[in-house]
Amino acid sequence: MDKWSNNDIFIIKNLIEENTALANALENSRKSNLPESEVSSAQGKFLYLLARIKNAKRILELGTLGGYSTIWLAQAVGDGGIVVTIEHVKEYADVAKQNIECAGFSDRTKIIQGDAADLLRKLIEEQTEPFDLIFIDADKPSYSQYLNLSLQLSKPGTVIYGDNVVRNGELGNQNSIDDKVIGVQRFIEDLGKQEALESTALQTVGIKGYDGFTLSIVK
Ligand code: DHB
Ligand code: MG
Repeated sequence: MDKWSNNDIFIIKNLIEENTALANALENSRKSNLPESEVSSAQGKFLYLLARIKNAKRILELGTLGGYSTIWLAQAVGDGGIVVTIEHVKEYADVAKQNIECAGFSDRTKIIQGDAADLLRKLIEEQTEPFDLIFIDADKPSYSQYLNLSLQLSKPGTVIYGDNVVRNGELGNQNSIDDKVIGVQRFIEDLGKQEALESTALQTVGIKGYDGFTLSIVK
């Protein structure tokens, strides 16, 4: 086993309490043959802690998948908070709905099924109250577009987190022809050019392999 997987297992065993809602969401996601691309439990707890540190009450998630990270975020917003989560794939949204219901978080979670860019434009048109934290975890080629739209649903202090930007180490490969790699490269270039943001990115290793994330705050 990779050293970093072994280390992650040690970290998870000692620091992460897998409650039944999260365990059920993973089990049901596997039974439903969803891709295993949800965050690890250590990453989920990191998102939860970030939301707690920010005292986030309104969270927007792009890319629900089976709702595993959604449940972590719903735990963080507490009673009276809300997680709005967007999923393009109907079957994934259906599994997420089951998992979130089973977790008892239907009242503080709104799953919207459809194209994320279209739905974000709709939220902007409806003058939706800005979010405290935005977790971008949907299709990688559209990250720059999602960033632009997310900024219109933000306010000073909004935290924007971009998942999976290191692409197994290909991020710095300027000759890549992979549309996911090119998507995250553009995203990071845009973060850098965006006057309204202060940003960084960190690389990670663990049971989900070699990856990384961006973290930004709206000025
Ligand atoms: C991929 C997407 C994810 O959201 C993730 O967490 C891991 C991998 C992917 O599209 O490759
Ligand atoms: Mg992801």
